[in-house]
Amino acid sequence: MRIEYLAAAKICLAIATQVAAAFPDPLPLTGPFFFVHDPSLVQRDDGKYFLFTTHDKAGIITATHLNGPWTEVGSILPDNSSIQLPGRDDIWAPDVSFHNGEFYAYYAVSTFGSQDSAIGLAISQTMEPGSWVDHGLVFNSTTGDEFNAIDPNLSIDELGNPILTFGSFWDNIFQVSLTKDLRTVTSSPVQVSFNSTSPNPEEGAFVWKHGSFFYLFISSGEQYSEPFRTDDLPPAGDEYKVFVGRSKSAHGPFLDKNGIDMRETGGTLVLGSHGNIYAPGGQVIFTDKKTNRDVFVYHYVPVDSPSPYNDSFSSLGLNGIDWSSEWPVLTAL
Ligand SMILES: *[C@@H]1O[C@H](CO)[C@@H](O)[C@H](O)[C@H]1NC(C)=O
Ligand SMILES: *[C@@H]1O[C@H](CO)[C@@H](O)[C@H](O)[C@H]1NC(C)=O
Ligand SMILES: *[C@@H]1O[C@H](CO)[C@@H](O)[C@H](O)[C@H]1NC(C)=O
Ligand SMILES: *[C@@H]1O[C@H](CO)[C@@H](O)[C@H](O)[C@H]1NC(C)=O
Ligand SMILES: *[C@@H]1O[C@H](CO)[C@@H](O)[C@H](O)[C@H]1NC(C)=O
Repeated sequence: MRIEYLAAAKICLAIATQVAAAFPDPLPLTGPFFFVHDPSLVQRDDGKYFLFTTHDKAGIITATHLNGPWTEVGSILPDNSSIQLPGRDDIWAPDVSFHNGEFYAYYAVSTFGSQDSAIGLAISQTMEPGSWVDHGLVFNSTTGDEFNAIDPNLSIDELGNPILTFGSFWDNIFQVSLTKDLRTVTSSPVQVSFNSTSPNPEEGAFVWKHGSFFYLFISSGEQYSEPFRTDDLPPAGDEYKVFVGRSKSAHGPFLDKNGIDMRETGGTLVLGSHGNIYAPGGQVIFTDKKTNRDVFVYHYVPVDSPSPYNDSFSSLGLNGIDWSSEWPVLTAL
């Protein structure tokens, strides 16, 4: 009797857990469709929102309200990156943040499937098109390295020292230390996340401080079909999802909710496909100055995109974050 009762309770718990795992829909956006991939969202002191995207030479998309309309107004690097590598005219994953009175955009130069990659830096006073000055190479990787120098994210550690978190495929996510002027790498890469059950699935990492923890977010899974085709998406189950782990140090080790190290395939699910949302990833957080709320920002492919269904329909997702459990739980905005 008692065992049956416990079994029934366990089933109820399992159902409750499934219900709790349902994700909230993103904020509905007004205005025409705009492409966004690997978004970075920064709000200027005057309240204006600047969204940056992969492709379009690091496209700049602005809005005065979070729910739009959003308008593509230009690019960070309209004349390509000064880094002499293939991909210099197709910038990936710009990561913009405010430091020392200026906006710093770390960006990646690479081509699909190549490890001959570099992280570059452009700086602006205003984030407007035409205001960005390219400072070129910060860090690179070459074929045969353990890592791949793409998807940069700048963060400041517990001692006030800058670090770049980066990587994808090739043993996943690494960190290096930077000089205080944020332009030069001073250490060898150290791995902070790795999924051993699948050779290459993590990318798009960033580190966010909340309360007394640093949270490492990653996108895990595939964003394109395998073998690579731009007119198809990965099969359900293999597609992008967002995971998190946390540490008292910005350098890790980052542990998930079950205490598993992210270097040993740990990671607590933050967001996966649901409803009209497919393959969410490329995530970032910013704090909205108007509401003082943390906003979770990501890209996804809408399930109701025109057929054939491909990554060029990649759209902006925005949600709130409930931190009350000291783990990020997405909410509606
Ligand atoms: C940027 O790259 C494209 C493609 O390689 C090239 O056609 C174009 O001339 C470049 N622009 C500049 C300003 O160098
Ligand atoms: C960066 O590229 C140069 C060649 O341009 C290469 O010698 C060097 O090893 C690369 N750096 C890394 C970290 O792979
Ligand atoms: C990078 O990390 C910083 C600070 O942790 C955060 O403010 C920023 O939004 C992140 N950017 C991206 C593109 O992940
Ligand atoms: C995605 O689909 C649209 C509409 O069918 C098409 O115009 C576009 O070329 C496709 N893009 C890619 C990358 O295959
Ligand atoms: C690790 O890889 C497996 C197999 O692809 C996947 O099911 C799992 O979600 C991944 N976990 C993380 C935390 O990346």
